[in-house]
Amino acid sequence: MLIFPFIALLFAASSASAQGNVEYNAAHNVTPITGTWSSGSKHVVTGPGFANPAQETFTYPKTTGVGYSFSDDGWYEIARYRFASNASEPNCIIGTVVWVHGHYELLGNGSIILTPAGDGYQQVQAPCAATSNFIQNYNYTEMFQHWQIVSDVNGGGGPKLQLFQFDGAPVAPLYLLSTEPNMLPKQVLRNVSATS
Ligand SMILES: *[C@@H]1O[C@H](CO)[C@@H](O)[C@H](O)[C@H]1NC(C)=O
Ligand SMILES: *[C@@H]1O[C@H](CO)[C@@H](O)[C@H](O)[C@H]1NC(C)=O
Ligand SMILES: *[C@@H]1O[C@H](CO)[C@@H](O)[C@H](O)[C@H]1NC(C)=O
Ligand SMILES: *[C@@H]1O[C@H](CO)[C@@H](O)[C@H](O)[C@H]1NC(C)=O
Repeated sequence: MLIFPFIALLFAASSASAQGNVEYNAAHNVTPITGTWSSGSKHVVTGPGFANPAQETFTYPKTTGVGYSFSDDGWYEIARYRFASNASEPNCIIGTVVWVHGHYELLGNGSIILTPAGDGYQQVQAPCAATSNFIQNYNYTEMFQHWQIVSDVNGGGGPKLQLFQFDGAPVAPLYLLSTEPNMLPKQVLRNVSATS
């Protein structure tokens, strides 16, 4: 009985190494990644309607979700609005809004690396915590193990971007709002040293 999982593992390993470099062709992607994407109800969208970095403010979307934009000259922007429950106190909902932008790179092995420009920030609202509402810097590099753009057969056939996190698990699918990236200016927009 023990030998079968072992053989399955061998096959998994050899098929992974046989894949080699990912070819970004029509079979991989129905459209380029360039453009404006949003999850779920599509209310969370990058650009000036979401964040004002110079003022460190946000315009809260109607519902939670995540928005991404990718430009053809290598910039990305992320808008994220989330609720999570406090693990030790499940009734205490923690709301987080995040804005970040920077440079993305499509690696030959199929992964995407998003390197922030340093001016990202988030607002955390945690009614049960000692400090219940605060703004802080947000400057995390993100890696998606792979990605794929398919036709959204259940939603009218438009392009659907599927990102897979570091462990291969898919994150919420993103739908194309526009082939133009809806982005704030592609430069550092906030003096981080000025943040307390
Ligand atoms: C933000 O993160 C990037 C990538 O790790 C780093 O190069 C940069 O120095 C960081 N910027 C700030 C202000 O921390
Ligand atoms: C989570 O709940 C505990 C217990 O009420 C509280 O001490 C802590 O500050 C809360 N954390 C957040 C982030 O709300
Ligand atoms: C692709 O290469 C990057 C950088 O070496 C690595 O972090 C990532 O895990 C690799 N992705 C895959 C799917 O092997
Ligand atoms: C950062 O601060 C300097 C000095 O106060 C100012 O000249 C510059 O315009 C600021 N940059 C941004 C992006 O706000």
